[in-house]
Amino acid sequence: MSLAVDNLQPGSRPLVMLAPLAGISDWPFRLLVSEMGADSTVTEMISAQGYLTAPKDARAYVYILQTDPGEAPVTAQVFGRDPRWIGQAVARLTDTGLYAGIDINMGCPAPKVTSGGSGAALMKTPELAASLIRAARKSTCLPLSIKMRIGWDEHSINTVPFALMAQEEGADSITVHGRTRAQQYAGKADWQTIAAVRQALHIPVIANGDVFTWQDARDILRVTGCAGMAIGRGALGMPWLFRQIRQSFEGQVPQAPTPQERLHTALRHARMMVAWKGEAHAIVEMRKHFAWYLKGLPGAAKVRSHLNAVRTYQQVEHIFESFLLQLDSTIASVDTVDTSDQAGSQ
Ligand SMILES: Cc1cc2nc3c(=O)[nH]c(=O)nc-3n(C[C@H](O)[C@H](O)[C@H](O)COP(=O)(O)O)c2cc1C
Repeated sequence: MSLAVDNLQPGSRPLVMLAPLAGISDWPFRLLVSEMGADSTVTEMISAQGYLTAPKDARAYVYILQTDPGEAPVTAQVFGRDPRWIGQAVARLTDTGLYAGIDINMGCPAPKVTSGGSGAALMKTPELAASLIRAARKSTCLPLSIKMRIGWDEHSINTVPFALMAQEEGADSITVHGRTRAQQYAGKADWQTIAAVRQALHIPVIANGDVFTWQDARDILRVTGCAGMAIGRGALGMPWLFRQIRQSFEGQVPQAPTPQERLHTALRHARMMVAWKGEAHAIVEMRKHFAWYLKGLPGAAKVRSHLNAVRTYQQVEHIFESFLLQLDSTIASVDTVDTSDQAGSQ
């Protein structure tokens, strides 16, 4: 059976991107997914106003905006509701020379963002959204994208007109997460509505929502006909998903990571974090990643509870070494393990 994705144009290659993930898509994680074949990545969102008004050395922004030379092209994502702030923030991000693109967040469902009229709330105020895109367009020559949902709630689905507006205002591409704001992350992403956007627009549309396996990656392209996909939760603890997707598109058998590979990568991830943020901070921040890296491995629950108490890199290494010995005696490869519980990790 051919593994080629049925609706690909001859010679074309779907884009496989890491979606923006607040608290997660920092440079060490982006570097790992880049090495596994992600074509591009996005920073976590930053507030346009916060970025412009915080002291230049404010840690939060310094951390979020840092990049590494080994990464695939990175897009910086901003949110806000004031065209002046958006324009100035986009200009400043462009001037850093660090980014391959700028994205405006029009999909974040968090009340602290939507209550101020930003993020997904912009889907209720398309004229304001248009003015933000216009301001950003004037402020950068970098590729400009927006990331949106399919609407605010099921009674106000305005995906296609909203996306057409963004195209009209000068967006170069659009990422659509196939859920309403009201759905948050519940239910199944609506890929059919993403397909309708793809049919209505002439700029590239990136499909987003519920790609947890390489089979999902093939399905989302088949259903939506999109130029590519953005992957969020499916990448947590599973940067190999990008490798598997690439292998599937290239007609190879997708290789699942071995338990050794998973734990060694988790340790490398931790070393990068320790070198960057210091051990105390990094190890606490890594705990969630450790849980994701272990997901689906036999006996992981017990190890996770130990990891929740660790404070040093050495403790983690020690726990992983013992776990690997234990695993060696039970399984040879993660291929034999059901990894479907990667889904629903958020
Ligand atoms: C922990 C977490 C953080 C997120 N942070 C952002 C963000 O900063 N900006 C954004 O546009 N979307 C953010 N999202 C949404 C994802 O980019 C993505 O649209 C969503 O998770 C659906 O894709 P998925 O099914 O592949 O996870 C976040 C999602 C999660 C779970």
